Amino acid sequence: MNKNIVILGTQWGDEGKGKIVDCLTSNSAYVVRYQGGHNAGHTLVINGKKIILHLIPSGLLHDNVIGIIANGVVVSPLELIKEIKMLETNNVFIDKRLFISSASPLILQYHIEMDIAREKKLGISALGTTGRGIGPAYEDKIARRALRIGDLKNEKTLSTRLEKIVSYYNHQLVSFYKHKPVDYKIILRDLLPTIDLIYDMIQDTTSILHNAIQDRKKIVFEGAQGSFLDIDHGTYPYVTSSNSTIGGVITGTGVGPKHLHYILGVTKAYSTRVGHGPFPTELFDDVDKHFSQKGCEFGSTTGRKRRTGWLDAVSLCRSVHINSLSGLCITKLDVLDGLNEIKICTAYKNINTSEIVSFPNIDEWENIIPVYETYSGWTKKTLGIRKLKDLPYEARNYINRIEEITQTPVDVISTGPDRSDIILIRDVFFC
Ligand code: IMP
Repeated sequence: MNKNIVILGTQWGDEGKGKIVDCLTSNSAYVVRYQGGHNAGHTLVINGKKIILHLIPSGLLHDNVIGIIANGVVVSPLELIKEIKMLETNNVFIDKRLFISSASPLILQYHIEMDIAREKKLGISALGTTGRGIGPAYEDKIARRALRIGDLKNEKTLSTRLEKIVSYYNHQLVSFYKHKPVDYKIILRDLLPTIDLIYDMIQDTTSILHNAIQDRKKIVFEGAQGSFLDIDHGTYPYVTSSNSTIGGVITGTGVGPKHLHYILGVTKAYSTRVGHGPFPTELFDDVDKHFSQKGCEFGSTTGRKRRTGWLDAVSLCRSVHINSLSGLCITKLDVLDGLNEIKICTAYKNINTSEIVSFPNIDEWENIIPVYETYSGWTKKTLGIRKLKDLPYEARNYINRIEEITQTPVDVISTGPDRSDIILIRDVFFC
């Protein structure tokens, strides 16, 4: 049977999903983005060349694959065109291979200005958003005032609705946030030339996917961000505004759960987080420096330094449950090379009572500390290893312990940035 697989992040994003999607879609017919927007940053290294995608599905670099930006994604047409052009300069042509849902909400300049103005006003309590207008665009969708991709097809109503919505935003931007206003004529002027370029891509992507399922084509669903940035299940309010957990696939595409056959949870071999919010295993020592430098832990969208820490198996187990994970993919294992010892957080303890806390409520995060298990590190390089048996004993031990704690098989291991630096333990399309 042809399986459809979901690839999503189990931590706070930046787990290395882009590379895994790229590797696993070589075998599939469709790759689908279902939530988030250009706040995502998926880094791919192909033949030594680095490409960062924010909005376009990572698997589209294979020229036999069709890409879908489904209804759950918030789309900036200007960013989309920028990315298409960037790919063309890298000899990747996606003409007639990319479709965008007519129901995807637009991200326009007023969303970006609102995102920036709000963060500024929050000062030290800011969320640390990517400043890409993601939150305001999803708010418009829920408030039922969003302009959507399909609205680009009718210039007259687009212009009328745009003028109205801009006056609504300017009122808040100027009066409340003391921020500069936006000009709807400039937004329209910049938007109009993009319409011709994407007009034919605008489709009912739900029907495209249903037809693909009927034709028994393999589909890869590509998640953005990570499970603890999920608007419902994440460390609220320090989250993004979409469902980055499994439910986002269903609402964000119109494909039901019986067609999702395997769910791969991508997990970095340690932890990172950009932006503010709880991070129990965060480090501020030489190991943080090791992770930052060896793992190049700087945001691919904003360039910010990522916070780093040991693997947090408590939240990983939570991720296994909330996403019904079929298997795990451990990425950046090679970044652990050369550490004397490696730790896994296996429980959270209340700092005042020393009692073990199962999973903290919103107000409990600041009162918990991690309880660690410590293992020997390894000196041999794992970079580029492609067979499980070639990993050092200690690295295999680390992987085994993750499987034991999470009760979930590790089916894929990534051992470096390149497409070919991968250990496929089980074929996720057939297991
Ligand atoms: P927003 O998605 O720009 O609203 O940002 C909300 C939070 O999610 C901030 O802490 C961001 O740093 C974080 N975030 C958003 N997208 C990503 C991502 O792709 N990787 C990691 N963190 C992200």
